[in-house]
Amino acid sequence: MRSHYCGELNASNISQEITLCGWVHRRRDHGGVIFLDVRDREGITQVVFDPDRAESFALADSVRNEFVVKLKGLVRARPEGTVNPNMNTGEIEVLGTELEILNAAKTPPFQLDEHQSVGEDVRLKNRFIDLRRPEIQQKMRFRSKVTSVLRRYLDDNGFLDIETPILTRATPEGARDYLVPSRTQQGSFFALPQSPQLFKQLLMVSGFDRYYQIAKCFRDEDLRADRQPEFTQVDIETSFMSEQEIMAMTEDMIVGLFKELMNIDLGTFPRMPYSEAMETYGSDKPDLRIPLTIVTVSDLMADVDFKVFSGPATDPKGRVAALKVPGGNALTRKQIDDYTKFVSIYGAKGLAYIKVNDKSNLEEGLQSPIVKFLPVEVRAALLERLEAEDGDLIFFGADSAKVVNEALGALRCKLGEDLDLYTCKWAPLWVVDFPMFEETSDGGITAIHHPFTAPSCSPEDLKADPLNALSQAYDMVLNGTELGGGSIRIHQSSMQETVFELLNISKEEQEEKFGFLLDALKFGAPPHGGLAFGLDRLVMLMTGSSSIRDVIAFPKTQSATCLLTQAPGEVSEKQLKELSIRVRKPVVES
Ligand code: AMO
Ligand code: AMP
Repeated sequence: MRSHYCGELNASNISQEITLCGWVHRRRDHGGVIFLDVRDREGITQVVFDPDRAESFALADSVRNEFVVKLKGLVRARPEGTVNPNMNTGEIEVLGTELEILNAAKTPPFQLDEHQSVGEDVRLKNRFIDLRRPEIQQKMRFRSKVTSVLRRYLDDNGFLDIETPILTRATPEGARDYLVPSRTQQGSFFALPQSPQLFKQLLMVSGFDRYYQIAKCFRDEDLRADRQPEFTQVDIETSFMSEQEIMAMTEDMIVGLFKELMNIDLGTFPRMPYSEAMETYGSDKPDLRIPLTIVTVSDLMADVDFKVFSGPATDPKGRVAALKVPGGNALTRKQIDDYTKFVSIYGAKGLAYIKVNDKSNLEEGLQSPIVKFLPVEVRAALLERLEAEDGDLIFFGADSAKVVNEALGALRCKLGEDLDLYTCKWAPLWVVDFPMFEETSDGGITAIHHPFTAPSCSPEDLKADPLNALSQAYDMVLNGTELGGGSIRIHQSSMQETVFELLNISKEEQEEKFGFLLDALKFGAPPHGGLAFGLDRLVMLMTGSSSIRDVIAFPKTQSATCLLTQAPGEVSEKQLKELSIRVRKPVVES
């Protein structure tokens, strides 16, 4: 129908007869001439209709925003003084000769350039209109480029794109499963994959050697700005490659992606052991753009006459740590109160602080609600360890190591943002040497990565001290976001059984849930390992979006619903009967 896209016209098209199709972005009546800004995927062109052509002029007069039109016209240079350097097509305009209305449109629920004042709910309910906004169009196009570049890299490196089932068995990645009832096996359920983990491992056993898939994953978990119940992984698995080789290759892929699409050089990614990340940044995904670090001071606080500090300082699972904010003396009481409230989200019971007014005067130069509890020697040692200067502020966390790490780790990021402490735009790294397991609140243990991750030690050593065993897992982190994670897998059934036993999965349960994997490991499983990137998160970071929802065409809300289709929805009695399901709705108290 069309000869050109609206957005691609420029001075080289002057004097050409063209045909455009698109949406009326804006209609302006300028005393006798009508201007239509016509929009399509590629951009906007200004079309002028003058009264000389009465028929098309009358039609142009009748169109409204978002009408779908087809028009013929002549490209000409814009009159002097009306050139718009901000538009790709700003040097030209089209003199309209024919106009056809392909479809009328109701007045949209919001104007496309006014989305800022429109609630996200309204935008998501009318997503088909919201997606017309140039900003989101750009993001979707960018996302398509990202997958295209990644596919090319993987194809060029001998990876095969192989699909794995969506209707499957539970694949444990630490979230709840989305279940699908079976009609043919009544009372039985499929689970949607939390990741293709087990299938990609089986593909290695089958000898495919290098696999990838841009795979939909489903996890029923609490949602945040960087989490969706349904999201996409760039999922990778390889055989006969070491941890180092897998990290080097996937790093090369991401570095190439940033270079090609954004002309950004991410450099060589530093590698940081998990223990250092937790100790120094309070997080296994440290944002290295922020120069603040967390410093342990438990040893200094063991004997002070302040139970809040001395308790955790002498508890093996406790920690007392400090976070120095250079120049933080300027923070007001109200700001400190707000930060105290902020850390309470993470379970911190308070946020002690010291303002360093004059470090040469340890008696009077420190301003703080707790300094009275600290002997002068402790004050001196503290300032020395933190290399504190006049004008600095020091925050403290004292609790279980878990609470202190989470609270000060989050505070560090919040201060970085609030005080704009960023020292660079992009800070990638690998976090390595994760422990195999962590303790659960009920005293059991759970896999930090997933139960198929290989330990760095023998089954005997693993059994002897599971909580201190390290794994061959690695996470790629960018600006404080976990972009991807992976590991070398267990490829021997005896080791896999040991890990299942440690996780308290009985022989029967192992057989029932993972019998196929244990079998496969007995039939010639090669050493293998891989990694999965969160595609949505990657695109979110690359486009500078604040939410993952901005880079997904049809995202779900925080409560895991789709406002556009109203999913999830009720189903008919007949469908339920076929599945032999009876729904027991929770009783709503009136
Ligand atoms: P993991 O669970 O770490 O590993 O997931 C890999 C990456 O997927 C992204 N991601 C998410 N993105 C959006 N919404 C979510 N709810 C969500 N959950 C995870 C993250 C994360 O780094 N099978 C393993 C990979 C492997 O071992 O190869 C796995 O799924 O960016
Ligand atoms: P309190 O003894 O409760 O008056 O607290 C004295 C100071 O210590 C206040 O600034 C509190 O915010 C702070 N504080 C209390 N509990 C903790 C804790 N667990 N970690 C860090 N600071 C705390």
